[in-house]
Amino acid sequence: MASVTQLGYLGLTVSKLGEWEKFATGVLGLQLAGKTADGALLLRMDEYHHRFIVSEGPDDDLAFAGWEVPSQPALMELAGQIKAAGIEVQAGSAEEAARRGVAEFIRFADPSGNPAEAYYGPLISFENPFRSPRAISGFDTGTMGLGHIVVRVDDAQRGLHFYRDVLGMRISDFIDLKMRRGRPTDNLKLTFMHCNPRHHSIAFGAIPVPKRLLHFMLQVKSIDDVGSTYYVAQDAGAEISASLGRHTNDHMVSFYMRTPAGFEVEYGYGARTIDDRIWKVERHEAPSIWGHRGLAGTPAK
Ligand SMILES: [Fe+2]
Repeated sequence: MASVTQLGYLGLTVSKLGEWEKFATGVLGLQLAGKTADGALLLRMDEYHHRFIVSEGPDDDLAFAGWEVPSQPALMELAGQIKAAGIEVQAGSAEEAARRGVAEFIRFADPSGNPAEAYYGPLISFENPFRSPRAISGFDTGTMGLGHIVVRVDDAQRGLHFYRDVLGMRISDFIDLKMRRGRPTDNLKLTFMHCNPRHHSIAFGAIPVPKRLLHFMLQVKSIDDVGSTYYVAQDAGAEISASLGRHTNDHMVSFYMRTPAGFEVEYGYGARTIDDRIWKVERHEAPSIWGHRGLAGTPAK
């Protein structure tokens, strides 16, 4: 069975592209690697030529999540697995592959319609090292991929089946949020899944929200990068949607801010990693050990 090995790139559609560029570079510290002919931002965070393709459009949501496999045979095998699960698979065109900086990719959707892709052969630019426009020490990526995403699904059980039995990921843990009585988040179950040592590359739940993407996460190499960004974001007028805190499951110290597209970004440091030889699936009933005030499931005061 072929398995995806990392969340390698993200496509986002945003209505305020100019604001998003300022936010991505001036607050998050991503590097502008270039723009496409139609004005989409190619944003970089490590040796990959780019890991974000941000296009202008009305959606303000996820356009596609790109899952990496190591080779062309692995991509073909994965395509077979997805088709065998009754899901339509399309081959990406050469032009579309160039936009993503990859050799070849396929396009499909998870059972809830979340747009996904799988690819091999990312463009790597060791000869032109990543330089953040901000004074941060950089992002923890490598074989762990760009970070993680949290998305809405219609049915968590079908999502689990798809990401585990079709894409080859493993369950990390579950968080059953039970803290806000009488609110929409009551008894909301989140499923966290991994495909490399990063604690989770995707998490999902049947969350009653209008958009597919709740947040994406970037992990930096220093707690000082989290601290400085906490204040740079506020000085730039970005809404801090959850204060500093440490998560129960991945132990990440992070905070959340709202991007100009409405969906949030988690900015964190120091998550624990998963060794599949010894990892056991856990259950949690709170999202955070401390802090993250403002996040669903955390006490308001
Ligand atoms: Fe997160």
